[in-house]
Amino acid sequence: MHNEYTYPEHYNLISITDKKSYIKYSSPHFTEVAGYEKDQLVGSPHNVIRHPDMPKDAFSDLWKHLQNGKPWMGMVKNRRTDGQFYWVDAYASPLSKDNQIFEYQSVRTLPSRENVARAEKVYQTLSKGRKPFRLMLPRTRLWLRLTMIAACFAGL
Ligand SMILES: Cc1cc2nc3c(=O)[nH]c(=O)nc-3n(C[C@H](O)[C@H](O)[C@H](O)COP(=O)(O)O)c2cc1C
Repeated sequence: MHNEYTYPEHYNLISITDKKSYIKYSSPHFTEVAGYEKDQLVGSPHNVIRHPDMPKDAFSDLWKHLQNGKPWMGMVKNRRTDGQFYWVDAYASPLSKDNQIFEYQSVRTLPSRENVARAEKVYQTLSKGRKPFRLMLPRTRLWLRLTMIAACFAGL
């Protein structure tokens, strides 16, 4: 069951978490794509859908942005309950009230095949244990920053 699971382009995969990443809301599309029953994801920490191919640095970057009140964009490979995987193009952001962050939200859509191919390459390089430089280009997409880092390693 290590196949890629795909889903319609119009799907909006949304989740909302508390500050500790426990899921408070999961949209019907997200629940379906993740392979869960209605409301089954609510109350779980978000790492229940983590895929082992995802490099740690991607999530450190996500958390660094969110905890500093900034949005984060990037490609994420997730694991379904049946063991298949699916790619998402994610836009995660903090939600604040009176200048205090009180929850986080991620809105995901189906990525292009080109972006999936690029992310696969870059994440494989990072997962080989090569420590990337600090991800210092906050206004670009994560895959672009990681591509630049991988290009440095390749000696370009
Ligand atoms: C709003 C939000 C959305 C997230 N979405 C995902 C996701 O789709 N997949 C994922 O593996 N982690 C996601 N995370 C990150 C997880 O909380 C977690 O950091 C990650 O799975 C790595 O697990 P670890 O922190 O236990 O190493 C999300 C976090 C937040 C706050």
